[in-house]
Amino acid sequence: MRRKLAAGNWKMNGTSAALAELNTLASIHPTPDVDILICPPAPLLSRAADATAQSQITIGGQDCHAAVSGAHTGDTSADMLLDAGATAVILGHSERREDHDERNEDVRAKARTAMNAGLVTVICLGESLAQRVAANTLDIIAGQMSGSIPDQATGENLVIAYEPIWAIGTGMVPTLEQIAEVHDFIRVRLERRFGEGVGRSVRLLYGGSVKPSNAAEIFAVPNVDGALVGGASLKAADFSPIITAL
Ligand code: G3H
Repeated sequence: MRRKLAAGNWKMNGTSAALAELNTLASIHPTPDVDILICPPAPLLSRAADATAQSQITIGGQDCHAAVSGAHTGDTSADMLLDAGATAVILGHSERREDHDERNEDVRAKARTAMNAGLVTVICLGESLAQRVAANTLDIIAGQMSGSIPDQATGENLVIAYEPIWAIGTGMVPTLEQIAEVHDFIRVRLERRFGEGVGRSVRLLYGGSVKPSNAAEIFAVPNVDGALVGGASLKAADFSPIITAL
């Protein structure tokens, strides 16, 4: 049985004042029956970890370098994330793929390093609108899966987030049938590559304009084990009902 996961990606939003939202979230959900992960910007990681130390909320990074350490100005290693109190890292988000030209092989190398360090990796996949319109979605997802997911993936160290690029921050959401089609496709391919045991234990999140108003219907879709939430994770008042809907 896969445990549900509500993950919040704060992206490049929030300064120390935003940590109060974590306290609020923790007080609303003292004993959640789902996993809650918040991924704040890197400078806030250790204070976010401190702020949630007495709660069930876990903290994650938004990226890490493929190298263990070295001359990589501005980058953050997997060990640094762990040292700051993170237990997970988002990798291959479409904003990183676009803004930093990250290719599937880059994501795979980062994921390998992060998994070796003991982090849970949330690997993001998703098609552009042009790819969706051209009916290439499943081919794109298949390529991203084989290219981005390392061989050492397990149900413990891998979470997949399906995030159609055109749904991120736009208010546009795929139909429930479209979400189901992609999540089922991902599940089948995981089972084929890693075997039924691992394939069935990896959690599949949907991401892209998840709000309190649409969370419940999305979570009712088979093979949706939670959400990776951007804008609606910034305020406890918005994220809390999404957690409750899981
Ligand atoms: O990582 C989160 C996703 O990009 C979704 O962002 O909920 O603001 O659409 P959004």
